[in-house]
Amino acid sequence: MKPVRKAVLPVAGMGTRVLPGAKTTPKEMLNVVDRPILSYIIAEGRAAGIEHFVFVTGRGKGAIEDYFDHHPELEAQLEAKGKLDLLADIQGELPRPGEMSFVRQMAPLGLGHAVWCARDIIGDEPFAVMLPDMLMAADVPALKQTVDAYNTVGGNVVVVEQCPEGQAHKYGIVALDGQAGRLNRMTGMVEKPAPGTEPSNLFISGRYILQPEIFALLAEQGKGAGGEIQLTDAMARLMALEPFHAFEYDGVTYDCGDKIGLLRANVAFALKHPDLADAARAAITALL
Ligand code: G1P
Repeated sequence: MKPVRKAVLPVAGMGTRVLPGAKTTPKEMLNVVDRPILSYIIAEGRAAGIEHFVFVTGRGKGAIEDYFDHHPELEAQLEAKGKLDLLADIQGELPRPGEMSFVRQMAPLGLGHAVWCARDIIGDEPFAVMLPDMLMAADVPALKQTVDAYNTVGGNVVVVEQCPEGQAHKYGIVALDGQAGRLNRMTGMVEKPAPGTEPSNLFISGRYILQPEIFALLAEQGKGAGGEIQLTDAMARLMALEPFHAFEYDGVTYDCGDKIGLLRANVAFALKHPDLADAARAAITALL
């Protein structure tokens, strides 16, 4: 079994649920406490052994590339002023040379199309997809748990979670061949099912391990829910050829593409921050 070394991060979305802030700041660059959401996603990927991150970007997302590059004036100024902790923090966010690639999705044709845009960089090996909106807090990072699960069953693995009542029509929903423990064989999946038709209460929540055969299916995948080329539809077809497992990781997910989800993430991460936890607790308590 080939190791999972690369991850695709679709970051072309407009962030309509977090406007107006996302008008000029890519939603993935909105802060959770003291650094952008993407910073946590990259740390999670690295902890799972990811060696190469492929960002699928779009118009107005240049801040992402700038964040993962040197800022010579800023670094010089921090050094001159002796702010060496801050300098080390900023430099610690930088990729190793060649660790990141950026491809442009030139039209918003859907998640399936976004992933397909990364095909030449991924090549012929299994890869992860990380949806950066979904910030996953866990003692063992969520993608590491997923890769560990993948290493026991191979094929394709999709992270799923319990769907809040009445919300299934917003997500990809999976069908399982029985449920025992956290890792279960899948029998089907459907993107944004009509209310009342969902095959289970488990939704696809934002981490995937996929085999490269998905790309040939994505290449000729027609439009699905919302008139978009859906990753879920191509995965449902790949399921006829290769096994899929649904995996429930151990941790808490914050949907940072949503205003309240982003707020919850900020509160939760502030309360765990090594330097800020006490001050954050006092500030939050005072507000309540
Ligand atoms: C996408 C996926 C969907 C998944 C969701 C998780 O939908 O297509 O299967 O459940 O992300 O956030 P979107 O949020 O782009 O509509």
